[in-house]
Amino acid sequence: MTKSFTLTNISQLVTNNSALGDGQLGVINDAAITVTDGIVSWVGQSSQADSSVAKTDVGGRSLIPGFVDSHSHIMFAGDRSEEFAARMAGVPYSAGGIKVTTEATRKASDAELRTVAQSMIKEMQESGTTTIEIKSGYGLDVATEERSLRIAAELTDEVTYLGAHVVAPEFAANPDAYVDLVVGEMLKACAPHSKWIDVFCDRGAFTTEQSRRILEAGIKKGLHPRIHLNQLEQGDGVAMAIELDCASADHLTYLTDDDISALAASSTVAGLVPGADFSTRAPHYPRGRDLLDAGAAVALSPDCNPGSSFTTNMPFCIALAVREMHMTVDESLFAATMGGAIALRRDDIGHLSIGARANFALLNAPSYIHLAYRPGVPLISTTWKDGNVIFTKGDIA
Ligand code: NIG
Ligand code: FE
Repeated sequence: MTKSFTLTNISQLVTNNSALGDGQLGVINDAAITVTDGIVSWVGQSSQADSSVAKTDVGGRSLIPGFVDSHSHIMFAGDRSEEFAARMAGVPYSAGGIKVTTEATRKASDAELRTVAQSMIKEMQESGTTTIEIKSGYGLDVATEERSLRIAAELTDEVTYLGAHVVAPEFAANPDAYVDLVVGEMLKACAPHSKWIDVFCDRGAFTTEQSRRILEAGIKKGLHPRIHLNQLEQGDGVAMAIELDCASADHLTYLTDDDISALAASSTVAGLVPGADFSTRAPHYPRGRDLLDAGAAVALSPDCNPGSSFTTNMPFCIALAVREMHMTVDESLFAATMGGAIALRRDDIGHLSIGARANFALLNAPSYIHLAYRPGVPLISTTWKDGNVIFTKGDIA
């Protein structure tokens, strides 16, 4: 039997479809939305909603597409709060910290890993996120990478094999032997659970040549590439990432003007993770404004991980993008929703056009601008995924 409902009295409905409403965000004022069997079946003026469908009045609040988080590292165990405190007292961040989490992750049972990931997902849903990508990368051995990905696949369709996060401690003296493992036995065990392959191409992690080898091996196995790039220093990996058709190149704290032009001319999304720049006290934020001005597609993500950015909160990233990367509120909200969808090469999420998945979040605010205007305030009232409530504060009628 068909199941439909309508939400009415939406002060601003953000559709992300400029054919449906005003501006890039396609905003409809005094709006309503109808959902049928988990899919958006109608959007328009509240006064024109079909009177035969059950209605809920949301009280003049703003409704936005669910956030699409295209970059998370939530398969981990252990705590690195001391490392954060030391960093704030002056110790610089380095890729080497990943190994601390590796030790704890290898020791954790499947049940422990699942519990941590589920608690992170709960936080994400509470802050309006409805789609998440999940990476492995804290096992760095065949067994732990394989089980991280197997558990991740229980939790999302967007699973990423990141055996090449850093060189496993056992291979410190011979990094290329670790690359052999990553493209050999480990890839064989991990590919069946994964859709994507990722590599950390940066100082203290993998060179551009090693990264190319890793991504090409994944492509041969049917995985699609994405990349961590230029978080810690200006590298030369942008051309390689574009050549291999990486769906996104993430971090990009260091970029030349030529890198920006190349990204703008490509179908690789610039995945910006300002929570990492915040929590590592990077010398500067990525050049979000310049990327947008050049015409690049930009995605925003909290990059949730226990080392460089232990936040699940997309509204925090929107506030950082607006304040620190000089992106407008509209551009930042678009990057957190549609940008993430493009970074995952999905056209069924990130927007609220007819036929899209009914993934959206109701704000306890009359305007989506409050996402940046009220930093740190938990503004999400209710989150829906495929038309089902997955989180609510219980404050809708
Ligand atoms: O996205 N940059 C590489 N990986 C993570 C950091 C991981 C860690 O420090 O544990 C990131 O920031
Ligand atoms: Fe990351």
